[in-house]
Amino acid sequence: VAVDPFDLVVFGGTGDLAHRKLFPALFRRDHDGQMTEPTRIIGVSRKEMDKKAFKAEVKEALETFVSAEELDKAAVTRFLARLDYVTLDATGEAGWSDLKDRLADGLDRVRAFYLATSPDLFDAIVHNLRDHSLITPKTRVVLEKPLGKDLESAREINAAVGDVLDESQIYRIDHYLGKETVQNLLALRFANVLFEPVWDSAHVDHVQITVAEKIGVGARGGYYDTSGALRDMVQNHILQLLCLVAMEPPGELDADSLRDEKLKVLRALKPIGDATVRTLTVRGQYRGGAVDAKSVPGYIEELGDGAASNTETFVALKAEVQTWRWAGVPFYLRTGKRLPTQVSEIVIQFREVPLSIFGAAGGFLAPNRLVIRLQPDEGVKLYLMIKDPGPGGLRFREVPLNLSFADTFKVRNPDAYERLLMDVIRGSQALFMRRDEVEAAWMWADPILEAWSRLGQPPASYTAGTWGPSAAVALIERDGRTWHEDP
Ligand code: BG6
Repeated sequence: VAVDPFDLVVFGGTGDLAHRKLFPALFRRDHDGQMTEPTRIIGVSRKEMDKKAFKAEVKEALETFVSAEELDKAAVTRFLARLDYVTLDATGEAGWSDLKDRLADGLDRVRAFYLATSPDLFDAIVHNLRDHSLITPKTRVVLEKPLGKDLESAREINAAVGDVLDESQIYRIDHYLGKETVQNLLALRFANVLFEPVWDSAHVDHVQITVAEKIGVGARGGYYDTSGALRDMVQNHILQLLCLVAMEPPGELDADSLRDEKLKVLRALKPIGDATVRTLTVRGQYRGGAVDAKSVPGYIEELGDGAASNTETFVALKAEVQTWRWAGVPFYLRTGKRLPTQVSEIVIQFREVPLSIFGAAGGFLAPNRLVIRLQPDEGVKLYLMIKDPGPGGLRFREVPLNLSFADTFKVRNPDAYERLLMDVIRGSQALFMRRDEVEAAWMWADPILEAWSRLGQPPASYTAGTWGPSAAVALIERDGRTWHEDP
């Protein structure tokens, strides 16, 4: 559905995220006819560059990050014609009046500012927007992650931005919420009657959430080394997934009803601190190894000359949601770089049947397991026990009911940013994090980070291309369970 013309200003417009994700996503939306004239997209950064050079840069980014068959020439030309560029000093005076002039004729359009910069600049940017009278009633500001590095810095960012803008104008991105399959979690849970009655501690033994990546930190070491896996992936993406799995059904699907329910989950997370951090968490850091039979350097080598670092590139945790629905059900969470495979999935492991009526001859009855595969090979598998075919008596076998999205729908899965950028323009905040959510997530993460730092132990080393340190396996096996692996 086409949206009304808008102005979008991308701070950090020459950066990695803009090239890899934002411009490709905007291009695709334009390509599919969602943008109407005279929509404008203005890149902003402190780099001295003219419009022509900026367009050339974006064209190159599209050629790199959008597949050749999607890049039809007319669509590229139309998209590039929307672009403009302003050199601007986020913390100083230079460029702001120039930006104001460019936007002057768009006063009644939606005006979105996308802050794809370091969060250190958010305060200065929003205040400059205000001081240069760039904020209109239809202004929205999008904040890219990381939203701080702990509760205090997140509060500072939220306070600075809240000083200038109303919460209804603030869009805090967690791009996992824009993933098609993540939204499908809502459909699975609340558009089917099957699951909800068994979605609780009486029927669910435990939940696993894995977000595994094959890539290392590569050129992002500068940022990553100040962050680590807990801040980079768990505090935001994985906790958001956990919220969607664990929350109560919202009364409606408006932004606040949904976010109210997620907030309750975050606030119900059992704190992990000094007393429990050793048993409930595992930190790891990759050393050199091989991924897909190709040898890859270790994290420290990637950081460069003489670096030393205790930053974790892998984390596994046993979390718990202290509500009536979930008390006592472990949520095993793990994420890491340089793991053997790229996969994000959620596993709901159900309990065993109360009594096997088949006796020893039937063999082991594997309890049901629902595997929601977020990426790649998106789909849902429900593992059931069935009778092994044949005349030889009652023997059972575990077989998945397998729903593959690629086989079922022959359409391209849109990138998360396509959906989220258009939600900003449409004014839909449901898939963005509210201030209190971000802060509640830090409230849980902070004591873990502090306990790690007091413990003073380096992360356990793991070979690139393996599933993290052996302690991560022990974390779940100690409880008589195992990490799910597709058979
Ligand atoms: C980002 C993290 O938020 O998410 C990266 O900063 C990570 O470290 C990325 O690689 C993963 O996103 P996706 O969409 O590739 O799963």
